[in-house]
Amino acid sequence: MFSYSVMTPSLQAINLTKRYGQFVAVSKLNLKIEGAKCVGFLGPNGAGKTTTLKLFTDMIRPTDGHALINGVDVHEEKRRALSSVGTLIETPEIYPSLTEREALLMVAELKGVPRKFLEKSVREVADKVRMKEWLDQKVGRMSKGMKQRINIAAALLGDPDIILLDEPTSGLDPRGMNEVREIIKDLKKERRLIFMSSHLLSEVSEICDEVALINHGKLMAYGPINEVTSKFSDSGAAIIEVSVLKPLQANVIKKIKKLPGVKSTEVLDTKRFNLRVSGDVAKTQQKLLESLVKLKIGVISFKPSTSALEETYLSVFKETA
Ligand SMILES: Nc1ncnc2c1ncn2[C@@H]1O[C@H](COP(=O)(O)OP(=O)(O)OP(=O)(O)O)[C@@H](O)[C@H]1O
Ligand SMILES: [Mg+2]
Repeated sequence: MFSYSVMTPSLQAINLTKRYGQFVAVSKLNLKIEGAKCVGFLGPNGAGKTTTLKLFTDMIRPTDGHALINGVDVHEEKRRALSSVGTLIETPEIYPSLTEREALLMVAELKGVPRKFLEKSVREVADKVRMKEWLDQKVGRMSKGMKQRINIAAALLGDPDIILLDEPTSGLDPRGMNEVREIIKDLKKERRLIFMSSHLLSEVSEICDEVALINHGKLMAYGPINEVTSKFSDSGAAIIEVSVLKPLQANVIKKIKKLPGVKSTEVLDTKRFNLRVSGDVAKTQQKLLESLVKLKIGVISFKPSTSALEETYLSVFKETA
């Protein structure tokens, strides 16, 4: 027998409930997210996303049930549970006259980073969010996007394996949004579990592997994006968007249409097409990607289509729209 020394990061809600008087903000939530991946948390305004994230950090206490981080109850053993989490939830403004370095050092000290590692860890997290050149500049002079990157850097201090983000790109311009998304993608590569709320379906289908849908405090669905979208689509099919390097020839499109698992294809432009797939989505997808690679059409991306997620979103949340 051998065991892995690296622990699999996990988040688990067991009957997690938060009531404000008669009002139920989070209702008997049961959810287990396990492994290094990015999970999008979707739902209309007031659905209970921020409340759930706050319960996972013990910013508020549950009325009932438990929130576990790596198996440790956040409310019962706060310090131990939160030692593996970095958060970005309603972050207060950074004091404008501080430099980035001063702001991050302050957080690092608060988080209990040992004295001799303070400088080094601040440099490391600033590097991760591509803000190393700005360490000695005053935060007050920085753009909103740069401040948000510093907030993410602060969440990364202490090297947490779980990161909770509440609408991390909200309020940023397209460039700022893109920078934050690229950083999240990098974090994913470092074997971390990222759980992030968002209202941007395109963002979720671009960076997340899985989605959790919440409405009126209740979990409506959780799973890989394609499984969730196929479950809620009329036809039981999932839609995958594929981009290729070279313009597609008619004979190749013919071949693609005949690949196993493909129910229908929709050519979006010369280098992009949607595939509707049915059956066991995960298995079909894997085979499909292999077959596409064999066709040597230069596949550059293969991801759940945003329109599929949008369709699902609108059908799941129709009564509140
Ligand atoms: N302290 C509080 N007292 C009373 N009600 C609250 C409190 N905090 C949140 N709520 C209510 O709980 C519900 C869930 O709020 P929450 O902020 O979790 O929603 P959300 O999904 O994050 O929404 P949004 O997308 O708008 O950020 C809302 O109806 C909100 O008004
Ligand atoms: Mg919110």
